[in-house]
Amino acid sequence: MTTTEPELLNPSGCPVAHLMDIIPGELPAGQHMRIIDGLREQSPVFTGIAGEFQFFTLTRMADIRKSFQKAQVFTNAAVTPTDPNPPYRWIPEMLDGKLHVDWRQLLTPLWSPGAVEKMKPKLRQRFTEVLDSIAAKGSCEFVSEVALLFPNVIFMDLMGLPSKDADQFQAWEVTILHSDRDAPGAAETQFAAMMEVMGYFGALIEQRRLDPKEDIISYVLGARIDGEPIPMQDILDFCLLMFMAGLDTVASQLTYNFWHLANNPHDRERLLAEPELWPSAIEEFLRFYSFVTPSRKVAEDTEVAGCPVKAGQMVFMPLVAANRDPREFENADKVLIDRENNRHIAFGAGPHRCLGSYFAREELMTAMTMWHERIPNYRIVPGTSVPEHGGQMGITSLHLEWDV
Ligand code: HEM
Repeated sequence: MTTTEPELLNPSGCPVAHLMDIIPGELPAGQHMRIIDGLREQSPVFTGIAGEFQFFTLTRMADIRKSFQKAQVFTNAAVTPTDPNPPYRWIPEMLDGKLHVDWRQLLTPLWSPGAVEKMKPKLRQRFTEVLDSIAAKGSCEFVSEVALLFPNVIFMDLMGLPSKDADQFQAWEVTILHSDRDAPGAAETQFAAMMEVMGYFGALIEQRRLDPKEDIISYVLGARIDGEPIPMQDILDFCLLMFMAGLDTVASQLTYNFWHLANNPHDRERLLAEPELWPSAIEEFLRFYSFVTPSRKVAEDTEVAGCPVKAGQMVFMPLVAANRDPREFENADKVLIDRENNRHIAFGAGPHRCLGSYFAREELMTAMTMWHERIPNYRIVPGTSVPEHGGQMGITSLHLEWDV
């Protein structure tokens, strides 16, 4: 798993682990996170190569939290370890300083607890439609038929897009975020899909400029930062971030939750008998299956967990490393659906903490409770595998069946 290449070791003797060792391509579900658990117990920090660049990986909660909070040093100018000089700028994720604060102020009301409360009936209506489409069949491929579909149709509603385009969005999402990165031409296909998404949003922004509606794009079009309207390119960069931050995250989390409950009937039976445990169970799934893998670009020479890092280098901070750290959580390696004081950082920490966390929790709560009211007993289809992709980790397919 880890290799020792003396020419790479920096003066502090930082141990070596390359990105492909940490999150290689496809593995059976759960494996990527167990590899990271193994690294954490070897060292608080590793260095390695990602693409052509040297980068650093932090493996423990204390160091990861501290780095998120020191945002002047650990900046969001780049957020992927393989790409320290990106030609794109997702908004607000890749902003720092005042412009980031301005955007947060603009966006915070959209997903405040009050705003989310008003969205509850729509969430229930949309998840009823998802359940109606599969319940009588007695089986489904959960990722495509439920986990991706639900946040997708909700996103379409929020952005004021016609539901008829949901399939197209789901196809773009799979190409951009889940295509096999080692396949020939994968980068070109991904880039082409990203350009199509931008083209779609570009046309939509023009429509809303002429004919504003009650949706997020019209809201951002009407907003001002420092008294000035927001440039078209920035609105596009915001739309792209929304597409990536709001869709795939909820889909991945939902799939881990169902994979867990299909494999652990005792937890499922307890939740059916004690539904008041759903909120703590959802927090525990967020902690245990933390699939987001943020990175930061270092603005000045510094050190992480005793390893010197140079300005311009990347620091990679898989959240599962922090959230399963036994120094921080008792029984960190166990899923306890009634865990109390669960101070996980599955939504990040510091100035870039997830803006959609209330909303994401409500989407998860809606899906988990409504599914179990209608389909309380289900199992993984015997003989099917449950593969997991690397990058931002996620289960690729999950075949479930139930009696009808
Ligand atoms: C289970 C679901 C979700 C998880 C686990 C999650 C997790 C995260 C994490 C870890 C970050 C911080 C990334 C970093 O520090 O680099 C983040 C940022 C963000 N998330 Fe989420 N997220 C989820 C759902 C959502 C949803 C549903 C929305 C919107 C509707 C959303 C909107 C955002 C935005 C706008 C940011 C950027 C915030 C900033 O840069 O200031 N997220 N999310």
